[in-house]
Amino acid sequence: MDSGPIGIFDSGYGGLTILKDLISALPGYDYLYLGDNARAPYGQRSFNTIYEYTLESVRWLFSQACPLVILACNTASAKALKNIQLFALPELAPDRKVLGVIRPTTEIIGNYTASKHIGILATTGTVVSGSYLMEIKHFFPEINVFQQACPLWVPLIENNEFQNPGADYFIEKYVDQLLAQSPEIDMILLACTHYPLVRDKIINFCPPGVNLMSQGPIIATSLRSYLQKHPEIESRLSKGSRYEFYTTDAESDFDSHASRYFGSPVKARHTHLDHR
Ligand code: DGL
Repeated sequence: MDSGPIGIFDSGYGGLTILKDLISALPGYDYLYLGDNARAPYGQRSFNTIYEYTLESVRWLFSQACPLVILACNTASAKALKNIQLFALPELAPDRKVLGVIRPTTEIIGNYTASKHIGILATTGTVVSGSYLMEIKHFFPEINVFQQACPLWVPLIENNEFQNPGADYFIEKYVDQLLAQSPEIDMILLACTHYPLVRDKIINFCPPGVNLMSQGPIIATSLRSYLQKHPEIESRLSKGSRYEFYTTDAESDFDSHASRYFGSPVKARHTHLDHR
């Protein structure tokens, strides 16, 4: 197989917050971003639907020659990654890799709490999957984990309503509900790639001494070490510092929203995922 870019997948715009940090840590690679905006948000969708949509997106990224795909979406990582790795990949492309954002986060999260009480803010799908509870128990059995689903945050962020005062009510509501589960929480993980956009608002509703953790820098560090350990994948990644963006919805909409997440202007192309 010829070399190709690193595929980055998200249900919509959120993965751009991860891509931004990947590019700043590992700028030499080519990246191909796919946002399934036409079917976002995924947060409340069923296990099967998220699996089906994510697999279609992974297949499309493979059709664009990506040797490695990162699901830069917690909901897809929680609900689709394991089955893709175990069942789809061996048939589809045994020589390629699909990675998620939950494992790299849970491997290190326990090092950032003194009280051993961690809060997780995430979509309903991620919370209900129990993935963070299981994975953190695996790496840090002594840590207490508390979760809160924030179903209205992605719609508020995607509709650019998150800076308006009305959004504060829902930001405060979910933060309060999380903190009410344990007064000892001293670290909160933003376990949805959209949430860094409301980071400043969340921190306003947290008592002093509570730290917030975003995933971008964690995923970047983890990818760097993965590529060092896997030269068979690294050697197949194209290295021209080219960054391409695709959306399953209108490209003009994508371009007008994407820069909020990515930090600089984006020019996307439309795709139908009709690669089969
Ligand atoms: N950004 C995605 C995540 O990290 C979720 C957005 C959605 O609900 O589609 O979970």
